[in-house]
Amino acid sequence: MLSRECAAALRLCRFVELSPGEARGFDPDMSGRDRLFVVRRGERVDAWLNACPHYALADAVPLAWRRNGYMSADGRHIVCAGHGALFEPDNGQCIQGPCVGEQLQRVPLTLTETGELWVSNENFSGV
Ligand code: FES
Repeated sequence: MLSRECAAALRLCRFVELSPGEARGFDPDMSGRDRLFVVRRGERVDAWLNACPHYALADAVPLAWRRNGYMSADGRHIVCAGHGALFEPDNGQCIQGPCVGEQLQRVPLTLTETGELWVSNENFSGV
């Protein structure tokens, strides 16, 4: 979900740089790995921590086996390469796999008036 308020600290990209159906990882604080990813579906974009709920957040197992490989082959679900869990892209709920019923952790996004997506580093630190 998007917020129109700009209280975030780190810029991700412009909304129009994401194609409909695209998922893309980001390393907004230059940690050396993509700590979150976004999924655009139509005019909606959601952001999630790049950490599969199959394991504790402290272990932070990333979902993608290759850069930006967050979606299933049919593009309908977020997929974890670890053990094949499938997640609903709108709410992050696992619908198939070893963590059914658990959820990806949403990262609040801010959409500015100029169409840029920002996040606060408070929302993904610790991953
Ligand atoms: S690590 Fe994601 S399904 Fe097992």
